Amino acid sequence: MTGQGLSSAGGDPRLDGPVRVRDKTGMAEPPDIVVLTGAGISRESGLATFRDADGVWAKLRIEDVAAPEAFARDPARVHEFYNARRAQLADAAIAPNAAHLALAELERRWPGGFLLVTQNVDDLHERGGSRRLLHMHGELRRVRCLRCDAAQAWDAPLSVQTACPACGLSGGMRPDIVWFGEMPYHMDRIAATLRRCGLFIAIGTSGHVYPAAGFVAEVAGRARTVELNLEPSEVASHFDEAVHGKASEVVPAFVAQLLAQCRR
Ligand code: APR
Repeated sequence: MTGQGLSSAGGDPRLDGPVRVRDKTGMAEPPDIVVLTGAGISRESGLATFRDADGVWAKLRIEDVAAPEAFARDPARVHEFYNARRAQLADAAIAPNAAHLALAELERRWPGGFLLVTQNVDDLHERGGSRRLLHMHGELRRVRCLRCDAAQAWDAPLSVQTACPACGLSGGMRPDIVWFGEMPYHMDRIAATLRRCGLFIAIGTSGHVYPAAGFVAEVAGRARTVELNLEPSEVASHFDEAVHGKASEVVPAFVAQLLAQCRR
């Protein structure tokens, strides 16, 4: 079902009155919120998505730059791919947009629990003020040593010659990014938080990649589920509600309506 915008007047009865947004179990309390974001939320900040016509995978193959086999076969090519994306984050033109800022405000003002789970490896949520944030696919500005497993913040280019600051060995430094075929980070905490949430919001993700694409099915039936995306995702049918449009427009509007309901 696609809404033209969420409204309490004659709209969703759960939004009538104060924040007492009733989740599927009828609990009259501000539900815990889990937000899942994808590349679409960063599109208007100037970062390419993956599967749009001008996306990353329109120009490169996942098998060549985003898989452990690719790194084993041609580490220099993988380093080149991530070095370029890491360097792009330092460009002054790349900044959080209104959607990132709205989610940080929701985190600050929501009276219930809040967790932002992002598939994105950029740092725009942090720069927008989000703190209760998990990067399930890793982070461009972190690297990890295959020799000693030390992970650390990193903004410089990485190469096969880079020596690990922790163990001093070279040849084993890799981007701290979760590649295809690898287990995403923080899955236990994400699963536990999904079990408790009463409102699940997916923003700017195509619903192509699991396990993230499966989160909505995990909570459907016991949480209110909302998709805020430019167009219906692959898993749109699992959502109770949807608002289609640009994240920088639909996310602030949705957040404003939620907060107005809880008079915060
Ligand atoms: N506002 C809102 N949504 C947008 C916007 C925008 N301005 N621009 C694009 N979108 C939507 C697209 O319609 C699409 O549904 O964002 C979604 C982006 O989908 P993908 O490019 O597939 O990105 P994502 O869902 O984050 O990919 C998941 O795949 O390649 C891996 O690890 C990578 O984390 C990534 C994962």
